[in-house]
Amino acid sequence: MFATRCRSASPGLCHFRVWVVPKSTQRLNDWVAPHQAQLDVVIRPLVEGDLPAADRILRVAFGTFLGLPDPATFLEDASMVRTRWLADPQAVLAAEHNGKLIGSNFATNWGSFGFFGPLTVEPEYWNRGVAQRLLGPTMEIFRRWGNRHLGLYTFPHSPKHMALYQKFGFWPRDLVVSFSKPIEGVPDEPPHVSRLSESGPANRGTLVAACREVTDAIFEGLDVEREIRAVADQQLGETVLVWDSSRLAGFAVCHTGPGTEAGSGSCYVKFAAVRPGPRAGDNFARLLRGIERLAAVRHTPKITADVNVARREAFRAMLANRFRPERQGVAMETGDAAAGYNHAGVYIVDDWR
Ligand SMILES: CC(C)(COP(=O)(O)OP(=O)(O)OC[C@H]1O[C@@H](n2cnc3c(N)ncnc32)[C@H](O)[C@@H]1OP(=O)(O)O)[C@@H](O)C(=O)NCCC(=O)NCCS
Repeated sequence: MFATRCRSASPGLCHFRVWVVPKSTQRLNDWVAPHQAQLDVVIRPLVEGDLPAADRILRVAFGTFLGLPDPATFLEDASMVRTRWLADPQAVLAAEHNGKLIGSNFATNWGSFGFFGPLTVEPEYWNRGVAQRLLGPTMEIFRRWGNRHLGLYTFPHSPKHMALYQKFGFWPRDLVVSFSKPIEGVPDEPPHVSRLSESGPANRGTLVAACREVTDAIFEGLDVEREIRAVADQQLGETVLVWDSSRLAGFAVCHTGPGTEAGSGSCYVKFAAVRPGPRAGDNFARLLRGIERLAAVRHTPKITADVNVARREAFRAMLANRFRPERQGVAMETGDAAAGYNHAGVYIVDDWR
């Protein structure tokens, strides 16, 4: 436990702060967080020429926060800066100081739900208000999109992250568990499972609309078309489809391979959902087997997938299908404790990072 005096410029806000932080994951200079003079920062859209610098800052920022010996190796051959920017360039903000990129933030529009991240700032500029300068205009983007619920994924042990996001109306809610499952052999294709890439471009619109119908049945207006199109257009992986008679029962948008959010080490489930109803559990199990088959034929050594613990049936189904919990984060959300789609009965696997 560490205590230090707040150095706020506003005397009314000064008090002793007490922080309890695992030693291995934060540096002393970040614990005490002296608030240095605010910087002269310009916030503007991130443009294509910024991508290499934004990618480097993302790796170094997370690598530094997590205490990696070589911070720049964070994410290895996985990548999210270019793929997310290509998915929606208008949704990415850059922070610039003296003509140099020093941070960025990515917003994502899933219809009625919006989230942001990764939010990263060059470590030498931490605790000088840069993230807050990025977050103000990010909240404006959400207002423009009209999302009725907002969320983010962060580190549950970090008082800094909690305090930062609470300033913008986010409140810590449930834990989010990252699961993984090693691939052993090539399982048979489960019945009534297909892939979006087999359908041909002419049918794509109809299938995307069917996916929207599935998510809308869970949380009105939820729509991950952006993720399905990004995977198809940028060839990031595959969307697995599970059918119940002739009706789409569920789908999983998966990244595989270097340069995607998965990297060469895994098949990453970016988003998966199953239509609610009495057959939801069986359909979810079939969807997981379809993902496993995809991972095997693409020669990826494991599957990785995030599930919010409030989605109890989905969480238990992951365990029952021999997925192992690896890490956990926390979801922070706007609204009251019942708002959003993190609750029992919801079969969704998703990534808010
Ligand atoms: C998280 C990150 C984006 C924050 O950027 P930043 O520019 O340092 O943040 P800001 O300076 O705008 O805001 C930090 C606030 O938290 C406060 N803070 C810092 N340490 C704190 C602590 N231990 N407890 C409580 N508040 C703390 C700061 O004082 C500041 O608030 P103030 O302006 O009211 O004093 C940056 O540290 C980073 O890139 N980290 C690595 C990547 C990462 O974790 N990204 C977010 C993933 S969810």
